[in-house]
Amino acid sequence: MRHPLVIGNWKLNGSKKFIDKFIIGLCHKLDEIEGCTVVIAPPVVYLDQAKQAMCNSKLLLGAQNVDINCSGAFTGEISASMLKDIGAQYIIIGHSERRSLHSEDDQVVAKKFFALKNTDLIPVLCIGETAAEKIAGQTKTICARQIDVILQLQGAEVFQNTVIAYEPIWAIGTGCAATAEQIQTIHKFIRDHIAQKDSKIADQLIIQYGGSVTKNNAAEIFSQPDIDGVLVGGASLILDSFIEIIKSASTRQHKI
Ligand code: PGA
Repeated sequence: MRHPLVIGNWKLNGSKKFIDKFIIGLCHKLDEIEGCTVVIAPPVVYLDQAKQAMCNSKLLLGAQNVDINCSGAFTGEISASMLKDIGAQYIIIGHSERRSLHSEDDQVVAKKFFALKNTDLIPVLCIGETAAEKIAGQTKTICARQIDVILQLQGAEVFQNTVIAYEPIWAIGTGCAATAEQIQTIHKFIRDHIAQKDSKIADQLIIQYGGSVTKNNAAEIFSQPDIDGVLVGGASLILDSFIEIIKSASTRQHKI
């Protein structure tokens, strides 16, 4: 069964005070909500504080990035084993902001994916097209290319216990989310693409959508059979909105 997965990507936001208040409030609410895995990915300096605030709750810790190297002379970087050491489980990689602002290409993202798998962490592999690529009808080609780098190097088995987040770049932070039907079409394409190599792996793969998810569009998004979760930016910083999104996920009908 694919359990709904909601991840809050806090990006470059938060403070010590905000984290304690938000996470304690969220943990309290999660006691009343069943059937959904919830993860918060705060900025790396707050990972330990967030983990402490999560205490024994159902809330899980995520991170927004990882280095390709395990240790050594790599000033400013954070390794997969460090993330594991601190208690993070779901690690976002290949986010479009890292691809565009930090020049991370498909090969670098693939190395990060393997570094996480080697450490028994769960990669959340972000993929998606630009507005220009969408207009040019290249969405499926771009998504396939971003997956194929990994698929061709290590086969479909490496996608066991991983997450793919389809995040069309034109929808991120714009208030202009893709429609549920558009998302379903691409998610089904992604699942079918992996199923060509291994249908069992494809069936269990969690495919999230990200890009302007709010409490107002979450229920509609979760109405589609291949949308297993959401990766939420802006709305994950507003406690009431994030809780509403989690509630929509937990009442999702399609629990294949
Ligand atoms: P958004 O960000 O929800 O603010 O659009 C999503 C993301 O970048 O993961």
